[in-house]
Amino acid sequence: MKAVQINDFGGRSRLTLNDIAIPTPTENEVLIKVKSSSVNPVDWKIREGYLQPMLNHSLPLTLGWDVSGEVVAIGEKVHNLKVGDAVYSRPDIAKNGSYAEYQSVCADEVALKPSSLSWQEAAGVPLAALTAWQSIYEIAKLEAGERVLIHAGSGAVGQFAIQLAKLRGAYVYTTTSSRNTELVLSLGADQSIDYRQEGFSELKDIDVVFDTIGGETQANSWSTLKQGGRLVAITENPDEATAAKHGVSAFFCFVQPNRKQLKKLAELADAGQLKVNIDSEFRLDQVAQAHERSETGRAQGKIIINVSP
Ligand SMILES: NC(=O)c1ccc[n+]([C@@H]2O[C@H](COP(=O)([O-])OP(=O)(O)OC[C@H]3O[C@@H](n4cnc5c(N)ncnc54)[C@H](OP(=O)(O)O)[C@@H]3O)[C@@H](O)[C@H]2O)c1
Repeated sequence: MKAVQINDFGGRSRLTLNDIAIPTPTENEVLIKVKSSSVNPVDWKIREGYLQPMLNHSLPLTLGWDVSGEVVAIGEKVHNLKVGDAVYSRPDIAKNGSYAEYQSVCADEVALKPSSLSWQEAAGVPLAALTAWQSIYEIAKLEAGERVLIHAGSGAVGQFAIQLAKLRGAYVYTTTSSRNTELVLSLGADQSIDYRQEGFSELKDIDVVFDTIGGETQANSWSTLKQGGRLVAITENPDEATAAKHGVSAFFCFVQPNRKQLKKLAELADAGQLKVNIDSEFRLDQVAQAHERSETGRAQGKIIINVSP
C-alpha cells in the first residue's frame, strides 16, 4: 500500500510516499481501508522531532492521527465492530498513523462514523473534537451559565470548543482575528475579540479559560479569571505557582483516544448540533503542502487528506 512516512525527523522534505506492506490487525484491532485522514499541528511537530522526548517513536513512522474509513478485517477478539462498518477514530499516537491506504487500529479507539457527515468531514472530527471535549467537559467541568474564554475560536480545536461550550449552556468569549469574526459567531460564540486589535485582558471574572495558544496569550489570561476559576491549556504546561498566585486552578490536557466520546460526538453531528468546517483538501501525494498550510497557523478549520474515493 501507499503510505506517507518519515525516515528521519525534520522539515517537510522528510515526507516520503512509500510502498509498504498492508498491516495485519492483531486480535484486538480492526483494519481500516482509509478514506480520509486529517492534518493536526501535532503531525508536523512530531515530524520535526519536537515530541520525541515524550513519544519516543521509532522510524520509519507513518504520520496522521485522524481517520475515517471502512473496516475490511477484524481481529479475533473484536466483537463491537464488523467488516463493512463505516468508522472514524483518533488512534493511539504512539503507533503508525493514517496517511496510508490502510491502518490497523485498536477496536476500543474506533466508533461508527456519523452517517450525516462525508468521509472528509468525519476525518476532521476525532482529534480536535476529543481535545475540546476532554478539556472543556472532563477537565474544566464547564457548567451551564458559566463564562468561558476560548482562545483561537477559528482553529480546529477552537471551533469544536465553541460548539460544545454552547451546548453546555455557557456564555462564550473567543479570540480570533477580524476576518474570522463571522465564522466564530456562526458557531455560536457570544462575543468575538480581535486579538490583533483590542486584546482580551480587560475581561474579568471568567470561570474557564481554554488556552490553545500558550506564551503571551496564557500569561495575559490569568488576570481574566475569577477566584477559583480554571485554566486548561493544550500547548504549554501552565505554571502551578502562577495559578496559585491568581487563586485559580490550572491543567494541561493531552488528548486521549476515546470510543465513547466519539459515539457522543457522532450523535451530536447527526443531530445537526456539531458542524465541521473544512479549510482545505489535499491528496496523499500532497501531504507536504497540507503541512505547509497547517504550519502557517492561519487555517480556518480542518485540513483534510483524501486517501481513497
Ligand atoms: N494537547 C493536545 O492534546 C492538543 C490537541 C490538539 C491540538 N493541540 C494544539 O493546540 C493548538 C491549536 O490546534 P488547532 O488544530 O486548533 O490549530 P489550527 O487549526 O491550526 O489553528 C489555527 C487558528 O488559530 C488562530 N490563531 C493563531 N494565533 C492566534 C492567537 N494568538 N490568538 C487567537 N487565535 C489565533 C488562527 O486565526 P487567525 O488567522 O485569525 O489568527 C487560525 O484560525 C496547536 O498548537 C496544537 O498542536 C494540542
